[in-house]
Amino acid sequence: MKVTLIGAGNVGYHLGQRLYNKKIKVHQVYSRTYSNATALANLIKAKATNDLSKIDASAEIYIIAVKDDSIAKVVAQLSKNKSLAKKIVVHTSGSVSSKILANHFSNYGVFYPLQTFTKGQHVYFKNIPICVDAKKEKTQKRLLKLGKIISKDVRLITDKERAVLHVAAVIVNNFTNHLFHIGAIICAEEGLDFDILKPLIQETAEKLIRKSPYDMQTGPARRGDQQTIQQHAEYLAKFPKYQSLYTLLSKSITNTYS
Ligand SMILES: NC(=O)c1ccc[n+]([C@@H]2O[C@H](COP(=O)([O-])OP(=O)(O)OC[C@H]3O[C@@H](n4cnc5c(N)ncnc54)[C@H](OP(=O)(O)O)[C@@H]3O)[C@@H](O)[C@H]2O)c1
Repeated sequence: MKVTLIGAGNVGYHLGQRLYNKKIKVHQVYSRTYSNATALANLIKAKATNDLSKIDASAEIYIIAVKDDSIAKVVAQLSKNKSLAKKIVVHTSGSVSSKILANHFSNYGVFYPLQTFTKGQHVYFKNIPICVDAKKEKTQKRLLKLGKIISKDVRLITDKERAVLHVAAVIVNNFTNHLFHIGAIICAEEGLDFDILKPLIQETAEKLIRKSPYDMQTGPARRGDQQTIQQHAEYLAKFPKYQSLYTLLSKSITNTYS
């Protein structure tokens, strides 16, 4: 299998290196900014370009890992090269429909790694669920094969299922991370060390490996400690944006257990 990577951002950076480490040849790496393309290409012995018209037909699978809003534009440019029309072309988005590729590439699909990726931040790729979708069975098989080389958890997930999974993923990852950020702001404002909260953050995630989030909920809203909730809300008057978030989430927890 030979792969060409369109995108050298957070996902491209990790996926490219995983493919390389598993001896899958990455032929070309495209990124809009040439230095980003070369930085990744040099790591994985691929050719770099920032020009989509230079993407050639010598790979079997083309993985588009660019910003969601740019996928359509990239697909339109890529499809000008008619020699790519029968190649396997996928994107890595959690929310964008595979149909975005359908008018241009006959063997289209999705190759969505369900994880949070940040350049330079190590991930255990072996454990990352890869959500694969493709209209044609032959394409599905090739994508499943590629997925199984880089991960032990590869699943066929439809467009509709992936869109819903992405909503849940945004809530469990992006929103909780934002709440951690608010916690860090509050600590910084008061000259307190955010590190003291890290064992708590770790335990919050680790206990969910074994138990349900419903059973693991603790805190004043779970217990119905109204005076504590009131006291917290009063303190947060100095952060009005966070105060309303605190009240909203406390109500959501209260309603869940009442
Ligand atoms: N990050 C995650 O945790 C994660 C997880 C799973 C799936 N995904 C999906 O994977 C895809 C890539 O996400 P990412 O986090 O890797 O994004 P990213 O780090 O922002 O990288 C985006 C890539 O898109 C390029 N790009 C940005 N704007 C562009 C434009 N207008 N035209 C052409 N190229 C453009 C960037 O080029 P330059 O930076 O070189 O200019 C870069 O190569 C998205 O579909 C996302 O939904 C992300």
